[in-house]
Amino acid sequence: MNTPLVRTGALKADPRLTAYFANEVERRAMTQAMFDQAAPGYDNAESLTALGSGAWYRREVLRHNGLQAGMSLLDVAAGTGLVTVAGHALVGPQGKVWALDPSPGMLAELRKKVAVKTIEGYAESIPLPDGLVDFVSMGYALRHVGDLNLAFSEYLRVLKPGGRVCIMEISRPRFRLAQSLLRFHIGVIVPVLARLTRRHADVKRLWEYYGDTIEAAIEPELILAALRRAGFVDVACSVSLGVFREYTGRKA
Ligand SMILES: C[S@@+](CC[C@H](N)C(=O)[O-])C[C@H]1O[C@@H](n2cnc3c(N)ncnc32)[C@H](O)[C@@H]1O
Repeated sequence: MNTPLVRTGALKADPRLTAYFANEVERRAMTQAMFDQAAPGYDNAESLTALGSGAWYRREVLRHNGLQAGMSLLDVAAGTGLVTVAGHALVGPQGKVWALDPSPGMLAELRKKVAVKTIEGYAESIPLPDGLVDFVSMGYALRHVGDLNLAFSEYLRVLKPGGRVCIMEISRPRFRLAQSLLRFHIGVIVPVLARLTRRHADVKRLWEYYGDTIEAAIEPELILAALRRAGFVDVACSVSLGVFREYTGRKA
């Protein structure tokens, strides 16, 4: 586990990341501490910076990818529950929802909003039985996964046959102008917004890390290839505004 840098994860070995951690063990510990600390301010900062594009967008993505009333949903990397709450509303009272995240601080915020089963755990090792759910969601957390192969195999395992996975993530835009705009947003606008209220001070580091991990993220094609390798079919990726991606797949 004590490998030099993330090789099987969604991050390249990028010099920017050495400022944060030296190996996989440090990366996990740093990520958890960062999210625990940022948890109380996460939702406010998220809505100010729009980097997850809000609750409406998350709900719309789940809906148009087939999450329906009565289904069972596992929301991986649930955090403070922005995707979980949207999923919970869509599956309705006949549905079932599990929310998984390694950060107790983030899950504590989630439990203030929605009554679902919460599990402290990692995408790479999900403590749930095979064939449990109709839908697996993951919002803006792929860059924190240390091993995509393990995580996607786990998603496939917990899905029922015919079940779907839907992963929302931000990626580096292909065009120079869009890259510069995103860099300006993350490097200038977001830190200014973060300083505007003291409440957001704890999330400043989180957002800096966000910017660096977007730059260091592996190419979308490699994420699609990892989904196929895990055994998903109908694997696809759609992109909005050159930045917001939805990776989807189905268990045969
Ligand atoms: C940016 S938050 C996203 C929260 C929420 N899904 C949303 O859409 O706002 C990323 C979350 O991923 C969690 N996380 C980090 N590494 C993880 C892993 N290996 N498996 C599952 N969750 C992880 C963090 O604890 C954090 O709560």
